[in-house]
Amino acid sequence: MLSAHRSSLLHFLADPASVPLDQSYQYIEDGLLVVEDGRVKAVGEAQQLLPTLPPQCQLTTHKNSLLMPGFIDTHIHYPQTEMIAAYGEQLLQWLEKYTFPTEQQFSDPAYARDIADRFLKELLRAGTTTALVFGTVHKASVDAFFEACEQQNLRMIAGKVMMDRNAPDYLLDTAESSYSDSRELIEKWHGRGRLRYAITPRFSPTSTDRQLAKAGQLLRENPGVYMHTHLSENQNEVAWVKELFPERKNYLDSYDHSGLLGRRSVFAHCIHLEDEEWDRLAETQSGIAFCPTSNLFLGSGLFALSQAQEKSINVGLGTDVGAGTSFSMLQTLNEAYKVLQLRGEQLSPFKGLYLATLGGAQTLDLADTIGNFESGKEADFIVLDKASTPLMEFRMSKCKDLFEQLFVFSMLGDDRAVSQTWSAGKQVHCRD
Ligand code: GUN
Ligand code: FE
Repeated sequence: MLSAHRSSLLHFLADPASVPLDQSYQYIEDGLLVVEDGRVKAVGEAQQLLPTLPPQCQLTTHKNSLLMPGFIDTHIHYPQTEMIAAYGEQLLQWLEKYTFPTEQQFSDPAYARDIADRFLKELLRAGTTTALVFGTVHKASVDAFFEACEQQNLRMIAGKVMMDRNAPDYLLDTAESSYSDSRELIEKWHGRGRLRYAITPRFSPTSTDRQLAKAGQLLRENPGVYMHTHLSENQNEVAWVKELFPERKNYLDSYDHSGLLGRRSVFAHCIHLEDEEWDRLAETQSGIAFCPTSNLFLGSGLFALSQAQEKSINVGLGTDVGAGTSFSMLQTLNEAYKVLQLRGEQLSPFKGLYLATLGGAQTLDLADTIGNFESGKEADFIVLDKASTPLMEFRMSKCKDLFEQLFVFSMLGDDRAVSQTWSAGKQVHCRD
């Protein structure tokens, strides 16, 4: 199966912060993406590639558009879809008041499947083709999610929450049951098609040391699986961890002690880190999910992207829905820009869109599979519409160069800007 898409086209080859800007991306004004059997076969100038295509190749032309790799969301909770925009609280009270009661419903597999389907629809509408996803404590929540993903052959990573203290009884597992449930889910789902498993302790306050040790055992016993959790999001949370783990050096050490750091470990937030924690994240090649809409919504704080960059720590963007306020990575870039403004840092649209695509892939150790249009990679891509609203169309008409256009996309764009989403060469969302 051969198909081709003609459009302006942009993808990243490296981190714009680590190489000269013009070497970090490829932009082709009149480009062609050639897809064969769900993978990128070629990318280049339309004029050069069109004559090489056989007559049976299906050609689609996207006018006034920008074709890009699908967005990658490195931290999101599918069960929290229905409680996005929950008023008035910061992290710990928000969990008690809204999150735990919502997550209780996922003991019902049919309910979980309904929400998983709605969640995936929202993700694809927003142009996100890969995400690192929290389930709930219920094993069935992860079965429901992966079944929904498998139906559309999406590349997704998810896991069952492990949580054996400091939450309502109805949401608690035990160190032993979380180990055996997670192990069964790994055996069933990890590596099945495009799906991967993430061992998912919620955060240190809701796990005993014994459970964190079990999470570490799972990570050692199952090479290739991920570890996904929260770290240093809120000042009261950090203080609570110090009380709960008096024998650990710092918050990160509560995970490190059980062997939970590494190349496939992703820590959401990382706002209030101590120097030693930054260094240890770097040393272990652990990744960070930067979640600006959530961090502003819960009043958590401002992430120091420049610190992560200085330490060469992999960073991806996360929406963190339902504490995050949008599924859109474009809206997430909008708020990332403002968070960094408040810190006196600048986020260029090149760096921002790198983080939303190849940077996310790198953080998830998937840069050899997704994230850009190198030949052989999975053909997950989106079509952005430069005229998605009257204001965007007008503002785009005033843009002098690519830099400005990309910045306008990341300030004014949202799900309306995503006219199509394609996963492994198949269309999975069409706006019109
Ligand atoms: N920390 C522990 N659980 C959660 C959660 O569900 N959302 C956020 N934002 N932080 C958390
Ligand atoms: Fe979260």
